[in-house]
Amino acid sequence: MKHLLSTLDLSRSDALAILDTAEQMAAVGQREVKKLPALRGRTVVNLFFEDSTRTRTSFEAAAKRLSADVINFSAKGSSVSKGESLKDTAQTLAAMGADAVVIRHGASGAPARLAGSGWIDAAVLNAGDGTHEHPTQALLDAFTMRRHRAALAGVPSTGTDLAGLKVAIVGDILHSRVARSNLWLLKTLGAEVTLVAPPTLLPFGADSWPCTISYDLDEALAAGPDVVMMLRIQAERMHSAFFPSVQEYSRRWGFGDERLARLDALGLPHTILMHPGPMNRGLEISSAAADSPRSTVLEQVSNGVAVRMASLYLLLSGESGPRTAQETAS
Ligand code: CP
Repeated sequence: MKHLLSTLDLSRSDALAILDTAEQMAAVGQREVKKLPALRGRTVVNLFFEDSTRTRTSFEAAAKRLSADVINFSAKGSSVSKGESLKDTAQTLAAMGADAVVIRHGASGAPARLAGSGWIDAAVLNAGDGTHEHPTQALLDAFTMRRHRAALAGVPSTGTDLAGLKVAIVGDILHSRVARSNLWLLKTLGAEVTLVAPPTLLPFGADSWPCTISYDLDEALAAGPDVVMMLRIQAERMHSAFFPSVQEYSRRWGFGDERLARLDALGLPHTILMHPGPMNRGLEISSAAADSPRSTVLEQVSNGVAVRMASLYLLLSGESGPRTAQETAS
């Protein structure tokens, strides 16, 4: 694999190799010296045309923990504002010796264009493109789900898969690259996915996707999901009204205090509550839910560093499978 563009490109063994390698990288994160020399002499460019907190900082932390040099580029304040194209921007940064380009772009397909254009020779990692895909988010989400499943079963995460895991993905599916990447990856790993949304926030053609569709969050909760993943309402991508009011959306599709209490009443003590961030507290999720013991929001952020270390390591070191952290360090 030369690039990481879409979870659709990942076979089950590719995905498990990344998750297993991420376990080893997470172990490095527990050490006093959280650094490996694996990518010493390599350069990773973070090329962000859209805002980001988690993805950009965790790719930077991941590259630095692997001893790579990191160049951070943000379109804001750059020559993009003078009209410089994606091609010229990418080639300029590649001329500084980039081995990997991590790109976030508002246009769906921009990372694939960069990877397939021949403009640059570096590995391309998609850090979120338009409403299309966000593969490392899906991988860190799968990593988080797998750890919870393994802990519940009292077995190691490595080697555990997600077969039969019931996952409800709730909210603004229409604009969500996180939902798409998660759906394809979870399907590959054997999970059963239900998308829950108002009809206006489901994309045309979603009825042919490999999942169940529900318009009723309470019905989806009554089905006993192992995981409830709440999605952010992406107001910046909404150019018309998709629901009557914030109050109406929150009441019908938000995860509030009442639904948090209902998980106990439904006999679901182990159901976890995920959110990729950033959260609209009080809209798709209440503060009580976001900060509850069921919430994995900050755990997802920590796991993101390990998963991005694994992705960079596997793409740049030429390894087809995981090695132990000890082997990597030697
Ligand atoms: N989850 C996610 O992509 O967050 P950022 O936009 O902060 O990177």
